[in-house]
Amino acid sequence: MKRIALLTSGGDGPGLNPCIRAVTRQALKKNVEVFGVRWGYAGLLGNDMIPLLSRDVSGILGRGGTFLGTARCPEFIKIEVRRTAIRHLNQRGIEGLVVIGGNGSLAGALALHEMGFPTVGIPATIDNDIGGTEIAVGVDTALNTIVEAIDRIKDTASSHQRAFLIEVMGRDCGYLALQSGLAGGAELILVPERQDISLEHVAEVVVDAYTRGKSHCIIVIAEGWKPGTRALEDYLLSRKEDVGFDVRVTVLGHLQRGGRPLVFDRTLAIRMGAAAANALLAGESGKMVALHDGKLELFPLDEAVKALKPLDPLLLKLASVMD
Ligand code: F6P
Repeated sequence: MKRIALLTSGGDGPGLNPCIRAVTRQALKKNVEVFGVRWGYAGLLGNDMIPLLSRDVSGILGRGGTFLGTARCPEFIKIEVRRTAIRHLNQRGIEGLVVIGGNGSLAGALALHEMGFPTVGIPATIDNDIGGTEIAVGVDTALNTIVEAIDRIKDTASSHQRAFLIEVMGRDCGYLALQSGLAGGAELILVPERQDISLEHVAEVVVDAYTRGKSHCIIVIAEGWKPGTRALEDYLLSRKEDVGFDVRVTVLGHLQRGGRPLVFDRTLAIRMGAAAANALLAGESGKMVALHDGKLELFPLDEAVKALKPLDPLLLKLASVMD
């Protein structure tokens, strides 16, 4: 290959810039030209690509977000749309593509591979829901952001003797809630994987914390947990007299996705970026770079996007012991 492209797609997260830098510099070292696609798959359709030289990726290592831009591009599911994307790549003489992103983005990468365009993926999503890799780029920094927020909320919760419902990201996967709840000392963690916990049970946990003389009760909730944070707030407020604590809600939202990537994510991004470029240039396609027992390996994209990564049941159990 003489020319490749790369793109970041879907929800952003810390570590995308170090990834872009690593793919670019590794490919350039092998005398391969690199194009950066702007705005993810939407940029492939709009033919919005820029050549990247080593200096173009200087100074981005410590910056959050993605300097190439990203987007959600639901129309990429259509084959005729992907055909246009491949046509634009071919017109520029681009022979391979690195896709950096989460589940939906990697499904797009798989579809391109299946249409015969050489494509390699890098798992990057704060949700850590991609099968086949222990961790994705962005997860560690996001977790640190969340735990810092929980620590801060706990300060004010204790001062006022309040229960706090802290909602974190995770539409389908409770990984962020579980890990941050454990590290942040939550009294209860609510995840989409466990829909069997009733509002009554949550109220009992709050009452129990109050009765045991705790100065706060922290409940970390993944956004995908049903019936949802607001329903739980309404329920606890309706039982204001008997739950003990006054209740407040904090939805952390997109602040979890921003910020400077921490060392773990920078290192992971650099390792995965270089490995993805090397794999693509060695003729690999339809694979994703994955971390397994501390080492990088190639994992089939079709398996990675098929199943959500399950939560560690031992950690769930451990969290309930630490309340
Ligand atoms: O997929 C990553 C994620 O951060 C989810 O946890 C969250 O539900 C979603 O993105 C939010 O997406 P958007 O930025 O498009 O609102």
